[in-house]
Amino acid sequence: MSAKIIAFATQKGGSGKSTLLMLTAAAIHNRTDKKVLVIDCDPQKSVKDIYKHENSNRSYDVISYNWSQPKPETNFQKTLAIAEKKYDLIFLDAPGKVEGKEVYFSILISDIVVVPVVASALDIKATINFLKTIPIVKEVKAKQGFDLKVYGVVNKKDNTVEHQRLTELNGIGGLELFSSSLSNLVRYKRGISTVFDITEPENTEDEFNHYFKEFLHKCDI
Ligand SMILES: Nc1ncnc2c1ncn2[C@@H]1O[C@H](COP(=O)(O)OP(=O)(O)O)[C@@H](O)[C@H]1O
Ligand SMILES: [Mg+2]
Repeated sequence: MSAKIIAFATQKGGSGKSTLLMLTAAAIHNRTDKKVLVIDCDPQKSVKDIYKHENSNRSYDVISYNWSQPKPETNFQKTLAIAEKKYDLIFLDAPGKVEGKEVYFSILISDIVVVPVVASALDIKATINFLKTIPIVKEVKAKQGFDLKVYGVVNKKDNTVEHQRLTELNGIGGLELFSSSLSNLVRYKRGISTVFDITEPENTEDEFNHYFKEFLHKCDI
C-alpha cells in the first residue's frame, strides 16, 4: 500500500505550519502504529533542525528536501516514490511562498492539505490569496482521477473579533475548517519535539487531543 501524503501549507510565515506538523507527527508516532516520514521542504528547515538537535532514534524520520537543485520536480517525485513504499504517512512542511512552483508541486502530490490559520487581518488576506490558487491544482488532480481535501485549523486562537471572520474562509478552494482549534499557549512554543507528545492521550479535556481526534477522523487515519 502506498502512503498517504499530507501537506501542511500556508503562504503566511509564522502561522504555525511547522508547529502543527510536529505536534501532529509526534502524536501519531507515539499513539499509533503508523510509520511517519516528514519531508521538510521549507528553506527555514525548522523541523530538520529540531530533529538534528534532539538527535534521537526515538523520533519519526525526518529528511529535508532542497528545492533549489537541478530538476527539483523530478527528484521530488523520485524521493516520494521511494518513501511511499516504506511509510504509512508522509507529512510535507511545504515551502512558504506561493509564487514558485514548490508549493504548487507539494500540493499536487498530496492527498490532503492542512492549512493553519491565524486570525489577524493580514493572515486572513494571505490565506485567502493562497486558497484561491488551490482550484487550479484540484482541476489537474481531478483529471488524473484524484481528489484533494483541504482543511483549515485555527491556530493561536484568542478572543479577538477577527476570529469571527474566520468562517469567511470556509469553502474557498474547497477549505473546510476544523471545529477544534489550538489556543495561543506557551506550551506549544516550549513543547516542540520530534520525540515527545505534547500531552497525555487520555486527557479528554485537552484541546490538542480534541484537534488530534478530529485530525485522525478527517484524514481517515
Ligand atoms: N498555538 C500556538 N501558541 C503559541 N505559540 C505558537 C503556537 N503555534 C505556533 N506558535 C509559535 O509561533 C511561531 C511560528 O510558528 P511556526 O510553526 O514556526 O510557523 P510557520 O512554520 O508557519 O512559519 C513559533 O515561535 C511557534 O513556537
Ligand atoms: Mg515553518
